[in-house]
Amino acid sequence: MEQKKTYYITTPIYYPSGNWHIGHTYTTVICDTFARYHKMLGQDVFFLTGTDEHGQKIEDKAKAKGVTPKEFIDPLVNELKEIWKLLDVKYDRFIRTTDEDHVKAVQKIFRKLYDKGEIYKSTYEGWYCTPCESFWTKTQLKDGKCPDCGREVKLEKEESYFFRLSAYAGRILKLYEDNPDFLKPKSRMNEMINNFLKPGLQDLCVSRTSVKWGIPVDFDPSHTVYVWIDALTNYINALGYTSDDETLFNKYWPADLHMTGKEIIRFHAIIWPAILMALDLPLPKQVYGHGWLLIGGDKLSKSKTDKISTELTDPHELVERYGCDAIRYFLLREIPFGSDGVYTNESLLNRINGDLANDLGNLVSRTTAMINQYFGGVLPSQGELEEVDKNLIAAANGVYDKVYKAMEALDCPTALTEIFRLVQRANKYIDETTPWTLAKDKENSASVSRLGTVLYNLAECIRISAVMLKPFLPECPNKILAFLGIDGENVKDFESVKTFGVLPAGTAIEKAQPVFPRIDVKKELADIEKLVLSRKEKEAKTQKAESSENKKEEVAPAQITIDDFAKVKLETGKVLTAEKVEKADKLLKLTVKTGDRVRTIVSGIAKSYSPEEMVGRTVVVVINLVPCKLRGILSEGMILCAEDKNGKLSLVTTSEETEDGAEVR
Ligand code: MSP
Repeated sequence: MEQKKTYYITTPIYYPSGNWHIGHTYTTVICDTFARYHKMLGQDVFFLTGTDEHGQKIEDKAKAKGVTPKEFIDPLVNELKEIWKLLDVKYDRFIRTTDEDHVKAVQKIFRKLYDKGEIYKSTYEGWYCTPCESFWTKTQLKDGKCPDCGREVKLEKEESYFFRLSAYAGRILKLYEDNPDFLKPKSRMNEMINNFLKPGLQDLCVSRTSVKWGIPVDFDPSHTVYVWIDALTNYINALGYTSDDETLFNKYWPADLHMTGKEIIRFHAIIWPAILMALDLPLPKQVYGHGWLLIGGDKLSKSKTDKISTELTDPHELVERYGCDAIRYFLLREIPFGSDGVYTNESLLNRINGDLANDLGNLVSRTTAMINQYFGGVLPSQGELEEVDKNLIAAANGVYDKVYKAMEALDCPTALTEIFRLVQRANKYIDETTPWTLAKDKENSASVSRLGTVLYNLAECIRISAVMLKPFLPECPNKILAFLGIDGENVKDFESVKTFGVLPAGTAIEKAQPVFPRIDVKKELADIEKLVLSRKEKEAKTQKAESSENKKEEVAPAQITIDDFAKVKLETGKVLTAEKVEKADKLLKLTVKTGDRVRTIVSGIAKSYSPEEMVGRTVVVVINLVPCKLRGILSEGMILCAEDKNGKLSLVTTSEETEDGAEVR
C-alpha cells in the first residue's frame, strides 16, 4: 500500500475555558493516536494543537477578575498543556492565537482577501450571544433567546467587514461531490448540504468594532478580526504561511485531517474551504466531525458549567487515579466513532477491569508466569504446529490488516476491538491447550515440546498485540514488551507484527507485574461519590459566600451624590408594639413612634428578632418611603439592619440613648 510521505493532522484550537473536563481531551487524544499511528506507518507527521484566545467573553472575564486578557489566559493555557503532558499527548506545535507570528499572518491574510475583493465593508445587524460568541438571525432565536445556550441575546448593529461566503455554496457542493471522503461521517455531509449549502450561504461578518480583545485589522484599526479568519487560519499560520520561511507550509499543507467536534463542522467544512478557495490555496484532504462525550446524557458543555452528576470528570484526577493509558483506552474504545458516547465512572472502571486488567493483564501475567515456572524464564522454541496453533497464528497474522483498515476509516474503537480480539483469542487458546496439564507430564519430551510451542505462541501474540497497541497507549505496551526482553522505544514501525515468530527462543522472559491492577468497582464508585458530593458542598458554600461578597461589591461602586443621599429621610424611632404576621415567618408588624407620629412598619426581621426582643428598642427608620401593603398591612417606612453573609440581621441603632424622632444623617 503506497503511503504519502507526510501526514498533517490538527485538533481545533481550544477556548481557554479553564473548566477542563474529560470531554475536552477526546479530540486531542484521538489526534495524538493518529499522529503516533502514522509515524509508525513511516510517515513524516506534523501534529498541531493550540488555543483560541480572542473574543468578548475572554475580555469580560478578565475584566471581572481585574486582570488583562493575557494575564487571565496564560494560566489556563498552562493548565491545558499540563493535561496534554499527563495524557502523553505529543504535539509538534502548540499554537496560540496571541502568538506574534499568528497575529501577523492573520493581518496579512485579511488584507490579501480585502485586496482581492473577497472582503468588503458594510453594516451588520444581528442578535449576539456573548457566552457563545455567536450571532443569530431573529428566526434562529428560540423564544427570543440564544438557541444554543438559552441565554439572553442583544441586538447589535455595527460597521463590519464581510467575507463573500455566499459566492462559494456551489463550489463547496462540487467539492463534496468530487470528494465524497472530504467530510466524514457521511451524515455530517448530508447535514451541511441540506441545512446550509442548498438553502444558500450568507456573507460572513469577519470584523467587529465593539470587540477590542482580538487582532486589529491593520489598515482599519478600529476593526478587530472576528473569529473565523483569526481561528481557522491557525492551521496554515502554524506552518509559517505568509512568513519569511514557508518550508513547513510547503512540506505539510494541505492537511490530511482536521479532526473536530460535530458542533464546529460548519466552520471547518464550509467556511474554512471557502476561505482557502478565496486565497487560492489547496484544500485539506479530510474533515472529521466526531461525536460528543455525554455525561448523564448532556454534553460536557463549554458555556454551561453546572454539572449535577457525581461523575469524576477532571482529567488530572482521572489520570492520577487510573493512569494515562486507562483514560486514553476508554476514550478511544468506548465512544462509537462519529457518534456520541456516554461517560460514567462505572463505564470507565468496567473498561479498565474488563479489557485491560482481565483480558490483557491476565494474558500477560499468566503467560510470563508459566514461562518462568516451567522454563525458568527462558522462552522455549516453537515446535510442530497443530490445528489450534495455526488457527491462533492466523488470527495474529490478520490483525495488522484489520487495524489498518479500521484506522483508514478513522475508526479507533474498531481498531482496538480487533487487537483485543487477538488478546481474547489467546486467552481462549490457553483454555484450549491447558498448559498446566502438559506441565504435569514433565518426563515426556513430547509434552514438554508441546508446552514450549504453546507458550512460544502466546508470547508472540502478546508481542504483536503490544506493538499494535503502541499508538493508542503510550505506556503499557512498552512495559509489556520489556517483559519479553524488547525495548519498546526501539519499535518504531509495524514491520515486526507482519511476521509470526520474531521472538528468538532463549530470550529471557520476566515474570510480569500486573499491568493494570483490578479495581473494586463498588468501593471505588462509593469513594468517588463521596468525594464529588463533599466537593460540591464546599463549592456551594464558597459560591454563597462569594455571591454575598459580590453583592456588596456591586453596591459599593454605584456612587451617589450628597443630594441623592439627602433624599433619604432617616429618623430614630421607638418600637412600641411588635407581633408576628400570620402565615409569614419572616415578618413582624411593629408600631414605631418617630417624634409625634406613630407609624406601622412591616419588617422582615422575624428570623433574627422575636416580638418581645423588639419592644422598647431604638431603631433607625426610613420615614419617607412610599407606603406599601405587605400581607394586607400598610407599611409606612422601613427599619435599618445589617445582614451578615449567613443572612443574620442586626438592628442599626444609636450608640447613646436618643429621643425618638431625631434626624439621622
Ligand atoms: N475554539 C473553537 C474551535 C476553533 S477551531 C478553528 C472550539 N473550542 S472548544 O474548546 O470549545 O472545543 C475544542 C474541542 O473540544 C472541540 O473539538 C470540541 O468538540 C471538543 N469538545 C469539548 N467538549 C466535548 C465533549 N464533551 N465531548 C467531545 N468533545 C468535546 O470549539
